[in-house]
Amino acid sequence: MTPANVSRYSPLAIALHWLLAVAIIVSFSVGLYMHDLPLSPQRLKLFNWHKWAGITILALSALRLLWRLAHRPPADLPMPGWQRRAAHATHQALYLLFFLVPLVGWAYSSAAGFPVVVYGVLPLPDFVPADKALADAIKPWHGRLAFTLAALVLVHVGAALKHHFVDRDRTLARMWPLRAPKVSQS
Ligand code: HEM
Ligand code: HEM
Repeated sequence: MTPANVSRYSPLAIALHWLLAVAIIVSFSVGLYMHDLPLSPQRLKLFNWHKWAGITILALSALRLLWRLAHRPPADLPMPGWQRRAAHATHQALYLLFFLVPLVGWAYSSAAGFPVVVYGVLPLPDFVPADKALADAIKPWHGRLAFTLAALVLVHVGAALKHHFVDRDRTLARMWPLRAPKVSQS
């Protein structure tokens, strides 16, 4: 465990935060775009890329969760109790969705009879049987959960910007990859 009085997130936590933020936003956008494409080689290619990116997000989220459990984040900055509770609840819900969204996508692929082969070389096991009725039942849940994740991200980003520009506290600075330059004393 890291001491609770550190002033920034650890470099690995910061790297994973921003890498996963970009990967999740791109995967969400590709998911929306490919959904409406007519059957074509391009649609097939995008489906595969989307699945590979999603499985990579799942694996990195597992690493992130393990790191988070082993390293205490910086102590909460002073703020009203309801904001602290809302921030913690949002972060916990985001962590839950990092697993639920890709796992439900994976289950849908298996049920639809398209097993996932990561990067075209690593076949993943099917943890549900190929079954059309099951696939039809699972499919809307992948989208619903992905939209819930997107809505929480919007709340999360809004809160981060409010802390930075309205409250003018260090919330964003301690998750930002670069340290603010030290002001020279001379
Ligand atoms: C965090 C990771 C992921 C995000 C944010 C995400 C997001 C999305 C979104 C927004 C859609 C469009 C849904 C709709 O319009 O109803 C979609 C579709 C889809 N996703 Fe994902 N997804 C992720 C991971 C995965 C994974 C890991 C797989 C499979 C291994 C997967 C398989 C699919 C499939 C097959 C569709 C197309 C469903 C269809 O329209 O037929 N996704 N995804
Ligand atoms: C898909 C996009 C994003 C996701 C999924 C996401 C997710 C998360 C999660 C789960 C945490 C908790 C970290 C932990 O304690 O382990 C976190 C922290 C944080 N995120 Fe994001 N984030 C995203 C984008 C952003 C963006 C765009 C910003 C800035 C505008 C931002 C600013 C922050 C800040 C400042 C913290 C630290 C909060 C604190 O110290 O209480 N995030 N993020």
